[in-house]
Amino acid sequence: MSGDMSPAPEPPAIPDLAADPLRVLFVCLGNICRSPAAEILFNAELKRAGLTERVYVDSCGMGGWHIGQKPDRRMLAALQRHGYAWGGHTARQFSRADFSQFDLIIPQDESNREDILSLARTAEERARVIPMSRWFPEGSSFTEVPDPYWDGDRGFDTVVELLEQSCARLAAQIRTTAVN
Ligand code: 4NP
Repeated sequence: MSGDMSPAPEPPAIPDLAADPLRVLFVCLGNICRSPAAEILFNAELKRAGLTERVYVDSCGMGGWHIGQKPDRRMLAALQRHGYAWGGHTARQFSRADFSQFDLIIPQDESNREDILSLARTAEERARVIPMSRWFPEGSSFTEVPDPYWDGDRGFDTVVELLEQSCARLAAQIRTTAVN
């Protein structure tokens, strides 16, 4: 019988979520749509879970076009429609220093993941990079967080809903791993 009979590769192991503090960095392309939304939604989840003191959250982009800017007004509007407000973050660009400053680096899509990995120098740095899709709800039709930048308003609502569910799953996983 022909064909590759090797088992499907295991998903990457998640770094130690019991780290205290745990430093989490969300990454997208421009840092004005998806990753600042993830930062806002994850902070709200941490607040609900009583984990605000234990987890430090930030976001950044692989590109430098929007450095210093507030999130895209369409993303802020979508967040507002779902009951969330901007916390003051302005866009910044990913740098190699982020590998030593964060325990968990979460790219929003496959292209972001490849760009981050191209800058990693060690297996330990690569191991910190886990895609957001790892926390998508079971049965999700998405394989990455879609880039809403060129889309209409509905695309922004879709991203908020996908990130809301994923951030809740990530926070729940951290809560279960937390050493109390
Ligand atoms: P984000 O969306 O990566 O979710 O912040 C984008 C923002 C800006 C651009 C692309 C995507 N841009 O090409 O300027």
